[in-house]
Formats: sequence, structure tokens, C-alpha cells
Amino acid sequence: MNLSNKTIVITGACSGIGAELARLARFQGATVIGIDRNLPQLTLDGFFQADLGDPASIQALVAQLPARIDALCNVAGVPGTSPTDLVGRVNYLGLRALSTALVPRMPPGSSLVNIASVLGAEWPLRLEQHKALAGVQGFAEGQQWLAANPVPQSTCYQYFKEALIVWSLQQAGVWFRDHSIRVNCVAPGPVFTPILDDFVSMLGEERLARDAARIKRPALADEVAAVITFLCSDASRWVNGANIPVDGGLAASYV
Ligand SMILES: NC(=O)c1ccc[n+]([C@@H]2O[C@H](COP(=O)([O-])OP(=O)(O)OC[C@H]3O[C@@H](n4cnc5c(N)ncnc54)[C@H](O)[C@@H]3O)[C@@H](O)[C@H]2O)c1
Repeated sequence: MNLSNKTIVITGACSGIGAELARLARFQGATVIGIDRNLPQLTLDGFFQADLGDPASIQALVAQLPARIDALCNVAGVPGTSPTDLVGRVNYLGLRALSTALVPRMPPGSSLVNIASVLGAEWPLRLEQHKALAGVQGFAEGQQWLAANPVPQSTCYQYFKEALIVWSLQQAGVWFRDHSIRVNCVAPGPVFTPILDDFVSMLGEERLARDAARIKRPALADEVAAVITFLCSDASRWVNGANIPVDGGLAASYV
């Protein structure tokens, strides 16, 4: 993959999938700007500390980011063991706010990649709800909609990954038509990263046992990163509106 002359912004760049992605994208020639709430322990071309669940922090971040961005990879996320409100702010509302603010800096041919999850696979069951939320513009307005349409703690991670997939598919149509910017998702199954244990407590023994029988092993973070760099590259220039499973066949095994 060749990412020379591309400036790529990666959220969640300090750990897990985001860190592997940052390493790989730099190796492939990109200039990588990392964003995270924590400080990096890897080499980046630029870094900004920000809380992606806080609209004021996102606004301050946007003011510092470069004028030209060729790809935005929204990797930062929190597991469903975090409070519902935080999951909604980081995994959906903040991601949406950052993306919307950066689109005007993305030239034709740019790429936006969102990290969904195999756990978002049931989005068609709640399509109308997710479309309603997608239709609500703005961070504060989204919070108001969620206050009126509360999401249960036990399934909040799944809900916001589903919502992210629906919003991404919609934006793929709009942003490609209006700005020639592609929008795609990657949907990992379990990945060996620091939050894997949170998924274990979030999903419970029964679901884990079911899934464990269906996969050879969790993914390694670099196996997910490779698919993301493909989506950032010009090799994927006609891939738009896709939600690509990177799960060793887990989702397919439920068919
Ligand atoms: N690990 C898995 O099994 C798995 C499976 C499917 C999807 N995912 C998704 O992959 C993405 C990356 O997760 P990971 O497994 O690499 O986890 P991770 O915990 O290793 O990395 C997440 C990164 O996001 C950052 N982050 C979290 N909240 C933030 C905030 N408010 N502001 C700024 N940065 C913040 C963290 O500091 C961390 O560096 C997430 O969106 C996650 O939902 C993970």
C-alpha cells in the first residue's frame, strides 16, 4: 500500500488498533497526526491531546489540525462497560462532530474510515431509530435526542456501533456525491487490545462461549490496521459505503 503524500489523522492513536494503524501508515509513507486523550508512546508526525467525548475539546482540536487532511480514521472508542452517556459521546456524537468539522479540509479523493464492530451487525433491526438519530445534527442536539430516547446500559455499545454504521452509510452517499470523499467502516470481531477484557465482562460467559466456538482466535491489531490503510489508499478509490468485516469469519458464521 502506498500512502505517500497523504496526511492521515488517526483518533485513538495511543493504543491498540489506532497505534498499529499509525505505525503501518507511517511505514507506508503517510504523515500521521495522532489524537488521543492519553499521551503517545510511539513516533508520530504530530499529536494533539483531546477528549473526543467533549464538544469544547473537539472544537479546540479542530482549530489546531492541518488545513489539508487526506484521510480521517476514527478509531478511538470506549467499551460498553463505560457509562452509556460516555459511550454515546465518544463512540458516536464526538466522532460525528469531528468528521463533520473536518470534511471541508478533505480534498476530492479523501477517505473517512470509521471503526465499527461485529457487535453492530444488527443495525437493520433498529434502522428507523438510527436514521432518526442520524438526522439530528449537532452534538448537543444529539444528546437531547438520546435523553428523550434512552439507550439501555447493557446494549449501549452495540447500539452506538449500529448507529455509527447507519450514519456512515448515509454520509457515504452525501459526501461522495458532494465532495468526492469516501466513507467506509471496518467491523472487527474480537481484537487483542487492552479493552478485550472489557468486552469479556460486557458480553458475558454465554455469548463468549458461543463466539469462541466460531473463531480461531481474536485478531491482532495489525491485521485490522492493514484493512484500514487499504481504505485510506487510492487502491480503494471506488470502495464507498462499505462495512468491511475483519473478524476471521465470525459474522459470516451466524448466517
Ligand atoms: N478490541 C476489540 O476487540 C474491538 C472489537 C471491535 C471493535 N473495536 C473498536 O476498535 C476501536 C479501537 O479500540 P481498541 O481495541 O484499539 O482499544 P484501545 O483501548 O486499545 O484504544 C482505544 C483508544 O481510544 C482512546 N480514547 C478513548 N476515549 C477517548 C476520548 N474520550 N478521547 C480521546 N481518545 C479516547 C484511548 O485512550 C485509546 O488510546 C474502538 O472504536 C473499539 O470500539 C475493538
